[in-house]
Amino acid sequence: MGLGTITIPEVAISFAERHPSEILQFALENYEGGIAISFSGAEDVVLVDMAAKIGGKFSVFSLDTGRLHPETYQLIDKVREHYGIPIEIYFPQASAVENLVKAKGLYSFYKDGHKECCGVRKVEPLRRALKPLDAWVTGQRHDQSPSTRAKVAVVEIDPVFSSPDHELIKFNPLANWTSRQVWNYIRENDVPYNPLHEQGFISIGCEPCTRRVLPGQHEREGRWWWEDQTKKECGLHSGNVER
Ligand code: ADX
Ligand code: SF4
Repeated sequence: MGLGTITIPEVAISFAERHPSEILQFALENYEGGIAISFSGAEDVVLVDMAAKIGGKFSVFSLDTGRLHPETYQLIDKVREHYGIPIEIYFPQASAVENLVKAKGLYSFYKDGHKECCGVRKVEPLRRALKPLDAWVTGQRHDQSPSTRAKVAVVEIDPVFSSPDHELIKFNPLANWTSRQVWNYIRENDVPYNPLHEQGFISIGCEPCTRRVLPGQHEREGRWWWEDQTKKECGLHSGNVER
């Protein structure tokens, strides 16, 4: 598994302008059997749709924080049925959630920021999901978050979850696509989506940390709206903030 003599930065440059499905095809061919799509929202279902059409061996996982909207849980099952694929669900460690809630209650993130809760409910389970993988695929896009995602490459060595003895590759095939391109693809290909998008939600995460946005507001303003714009990454993609 891997690229031989070509380096990841070289691949990132040569694939920078390519169509997402070509980037995904490259990813699936080179990391077959050791690659997974990280699924939660509209972009990710687009990636699942493209991957299903490309074929090959890949897995799909989702992090169930315990705080998702009912509509998101329904979407997960809809995607499973629509594409006839298993979706691995990772849950947080029960004892870690219990300790956090016991010490600080169920809404500590409104008082002292989302980092601790996201650490328990998202980052630790993600670490477990990534452990057996050589590469993962995310739905990150540049225009999702001008302050943190504008420079995301179509492929990179994961700056957060790689370790000296385990290099993890992170593909972001939709990095250059706009929201309009994603939604055109969803309509043209009858891709299942979260019905909350019909109710004014754009970027959807956990229920207590997601709200509708008004016309003209940026989608990221609907996430952790009580916090500084420049720090709106939850730990899944914290490498974006540090670069
Ligand atoms: S977040 O870090 O702010 O929550 P965002 O919602 O923009 O991320 O999603 C960006 C990408 O992160 C998604 O396309 C998906 O690949 C991954 N992701 C986010 N949340 C989850 C989740 N709960 N389970 C699996 N992957 C997720
Ligand atoms: Fe906790 Fe909110 Fe992060 Fe979800 S998004 S894990 S509820 S802080």
